[in-house]
Amino acid sequence: MKNSKTQIAPLTERHAWQALAIHFERVRQLQLRTLFADDPQRGERMTAEAAGFYLDYSKNLITDETLKLLLQLAEESGLRARIDAMFGGEKINITEDRAVLHVALRAPKEASIVVDGENVVPRVHTVLDKMADFCDRVRSGQWRGHTGKRILNVVNIGIGGSDLGPVMAYEALKYYSDRAMTFRFVSNVDGTDFAEAVRDLDPARTLFIASSKTFTTLETMTNAHSARDWVLAGFDGDVKSVARHFVAVSTNAEAVAKFGIDTANMFGFWDWVGGRYSMDSAIGLSTMLAIGPANFRAMLTGFNRMDEHFRSAPFARNLPVLMGLLALWHNNFFGAQTVAVLPYEQYLKRFPAYLQQLTMESNGKHVSLDGNRVPCDTSPIYFGEPGTNGQHSFYQLIHQGTRIIPCDFIAFSKSLNPLGEHHDILLANMFAQGEALAVGKTREEVEAQGTPDWLVPHRVFEGNRPSNTLLADSLTPETFGSLVALYEHNVFTQGAIWNIGSFDQWGVELGKQLAQAIIGELASEEEPALAHDSSTNNLIRRYRKLKKGSL
Ligand code: F6P
Repeated sequence: MKNSKTQIAPLTERHAWQALAIHFERVRQLQLRTLFADDPQRGERMTAEAAGFYLDYSKNLITDETLKLLLQLAEESGLRARIDAMFGGEKINITEDRAVLHVALRAPKEASIVVDGENVVPRVHTVLDKMADFCDRVRSGQWRGHTGKRILNVVNIGIGGSDLGPVMAYEALKYYSDRAMTFRFVSNVDGTDFAEAVRDLDPARTLFIASSKTFTTLETMTNAHSARDWVLAGFDGDVKSVARHFVAVSTNAEAVAKFGIDTANMFGFWDWVGGRYSMDSAIGLSTMLAIGPANFRAMLTGFNRMDEHFRSAPFARNLPVLMGLLALWHNNFFGAQTVAVLPYEQYLKRFPAYLQQLTMESNGKHVSLDGNRVPCDTSPIYFGEPGTNGQHSFYQLIHQGTRIIPCDFIAFSKSLNPLGEHHDILLANMFAQGEALAVGKTREEVEAQGTPDWLVPHRVFEGNRPSNTLLADSLTPETFGSLVALYEHNVFTQGAIWNIGSFDQWGVELGKQLAQAIIGELASEEEPALAHDSSTNNLIRRYRKLKKGSL
């Protein structure tokens, strides 16, 4: 294997893995109800705390022995060395020959992280300072539009990591944002996304941020061109207007210049920042515009606190490691195919959507770093909705369905918008869900309520459904940063144990290539010669006919 320093045994040959397989047969029938009854301290013992977060993992299908073996698996899998390699700037993204240094984006000024012989931290802070200066000018009204009007609308154009982090962070930190400004996010190449985003905006007061690491992504480039046309149309085609209404965020200065954006109005980042790990880089420009530089820096401090915890805390008390190991235990041994992330915090409504890319683009791999097929399932499917909404939607399946769906409950003890009894009601629901999932309701309990015999099976809750609960004091930029970093490193932990490349995304390429060919076939005046499978050929022909109205 390229760049590998230490040889790690294949997953299923590791002692801890084999011990876990034997152990699983012994504990698979254990009931959480019994585990809690037998050990009154369980709920206090199986907890850990870091960077403002309290993790209760006692409602997982584990015993002390399970935990011991999982921690042993982490050691045997070389997790410690992997963490050190990431923080040390080694090129652990071997298929792209890149370092993986989102942690450098939130490192304090005095830190040193060396890539290819250069300490990258000063460069990070130079860009942060440039962003802060720009944001101050826009927010104070010093930076004006082409006709001298103050900028009040910001539209971020990007997709994937250049959209999901920014939109999620904007929603999460809206409480701290400048409410005089409007923020919109355009990602989809479906023209509706752009049309709806700008339909009520005045070009004279609108700033576009073209966000793309590569500055080649089809969707973003298409939307950016439409935005440019929209701006030009607002200023009678005056090309000078572009400089006041467009900035770019990218690693590709050449492509930015080619697009027509002055590179003086470009905010850079580097190939060692993966798209889905880029919200702390200049990709977070919309976030900084919304909440201001001081809050943005507080968010970075939160990320950094969790980074430091992940890097240095013993695995037994390490939140990301524990959460990663527990997710892996339920996935690989109990066959759980999904994880539900359930924030009882309305501001985190886009967090599950953000996590979909973070988790599944990172660990949705079937080949390990040595090129062989991974001998077990890799990333579970992450999904979720804020509570309590999800309770009235898909929780039925979590409680009484046939599958195990481990849940992560997330809440804050103080509401940013205290309103009567709302917050107690919200949190009571979250605690109740965790309890109901773990403990369930037995046949005897249902019968004791006088339920007719025929109805009893329908009203029984088997329980034994695992969950984690994460609690923090309140949703601040800092706790928010720590929360995101917690999931980043949770993903890292799982990927390291499977020995997969968590930082590439080759799986998105094939569809992109095929689409390029099909775009020409859809647009061509002449009937194209099609050489796809018969289904694709037929669909293309049908679409062409429908488009022309000739069907
Ligand atoms: O298609 C997947 C992907 O490469 C993501 O990994 C990335 O976040 C997204 O596209 C956007 O890429 P870019 O920032 O280069 O436009």
